[in-house]
Amino acid sequence: MEKRKMHGTWSSRWTFILAATGSAVGLGNIWKFPYITGENGGGAFVLVYLLCIAVIGIPIMMAETMLGRSGRQSPINTMRDLAVEAGTSRAWVAIGWMGVLAGLLILSFYSVIAGWALNYVFAIADGTFVNATGATVESYFETLQANKYEMIQWHSIFMLMTLAVVIGGVTKGLGNAVRILMPVLFVLLLMLLGYGMSEGNFTAGFNFLFNFKFDLLTWDGVLVALGHAFFTLSLGMGAIMAYGSYMPGDAPIGKTIITVAFLDTAVALVAGLAIFPVVFANEALEPGAGPGLLFVSLPVAFGSMSGGVVFGTLFFVLISLAAWSSAISLIEPGVAWLVESKNFSRLSANLLLGTIAWTLGLGTVLSFNDWAGEEYHILGVTFFDFVDKLTANFMLPIGGMLIAIFAGWFMKKSHVRREMSHESPEMFELWRALVRYISPTLVALVFGFLVWDMLIN
Ligand code: PHE
Repeated sequence: MEKRKMHGTWSSRWTFILAATGSAVGLGNIWKFPYITGENGGGAFVLVYLLCIAVIGIPIMMAETMLGRSGRQSPINTMRDLAVEAGTSRAWVAIGWMGVLAGLLILSFYSVIAGWALNYVFAIADGTFVNATGATVESYFETLQANKYEMIQWHSIFMLMTLAVVIGGVTKGLGNAVRILMPVLFVLLLMLLGYGMSEGNFTAGFNFLFNFKFDLLTWDGVLVALGHAFFTLSLGMGAIMAYGSYMPGDAPIGKTIITVAFLDTAVALVAGLAIFPVVFANEALEPGAGPGLLFVSLPVAFGSMSGGVVFGTLFFVLISLAAWSSAISLIEPGVAWLVESKNFSRLSANLLLGTIAWTLGLGTVLSFNDWAGEEYHILGVTFFDFVDKLTANFMLPIGGMLIAIFAGWFMKKSHVRREMSHESPEMFELWRALVRYISPTLVALVFGFLVWDMLIN
């Protein structure tokens, strides 16, 4: 009870669903999913991603929520207590540490990209893109990327917006905000989908997403799909563990998590179906355009749509808000730990971690201008690409694999069963088998094949 009072609890199971969906649905769904799908050839990549969500993501997400709810503290302290309770090594606390680090690294670039979205809110509202062609939007985007001061300004605004909420405590207003935000975002996405169907090249967009061309898929692409399954579900870094620790004790974990994963996947697929028809209808746009895909293709669509200024503005407002409700969960695990164990106030904890993430974010800002050149590359990629790949493709899958192994092999079965008392015996055994054998093995296999692929090439 004491532990719960420190950070508060969600008012109901639905508030947890909303908050977890707020964390899961973000730039990952609307910005990242379309562009990595474009870079990795489409259909086959999407199929692998969906399989990763179902077979690896959902079971591990249930495990992470379960750990959070039984520990009821920040991920670091939760892992320490659960390890002690299970009579095993305290080294498991590394899951918590790595998560806090991954959260700050992700937040650093997340805030820069969300800053682009904020910039677009005003650009669209101003009518900048009315009747714009692919080429004009592209040059607008390039000008923004070349201007580091402008990017730093939006990055700072977004970071401050995030800290403002986390300082107040995440269990308070977030649930209510997300309750309105998510349905409106979804309706707008459906409208964009309608536009793509009537004005864009819907057939080409649809085929690109769902025609499985396996020859276009590489092992690297499989790793990106796996990493994205973790990224999009906010998995493997303690965000879901922290949110799970604020979950009411009587809520059924399985049903709840399946709902969140379903909503998250639906948003990503609809975003893809809305964006690619526009891309294929425009000579100047191409699916493999990279991180700028969303920021170039959507303004073209809104620019030629009647009411595009209003809808476009609203859409980028919603992307910014979706990013915001995700960013909050990136910093919460570290904040909760500083408050619990180091006597920090929520304010000072946020200022410290926010400053670290903001400073790291400057590296992402510079990746698009001063540091774009090869002499600044880390392992062959820009600072931004490096941080993105390090977290999504390595830290999150490894964190998730360790969570699965801990929940499946080290925690006492009776304890786990008590937390998951709503699951039928068959469902429980199925989940446990997935978490013990299937999910960690698949993650390890992807890493194994990647190494093998690198060795033979
Ligand atoms: N899931 C978020 C998205 O898809 C990103 C995120 C990752 C948030 C990890 C929290 C933790 O945008």
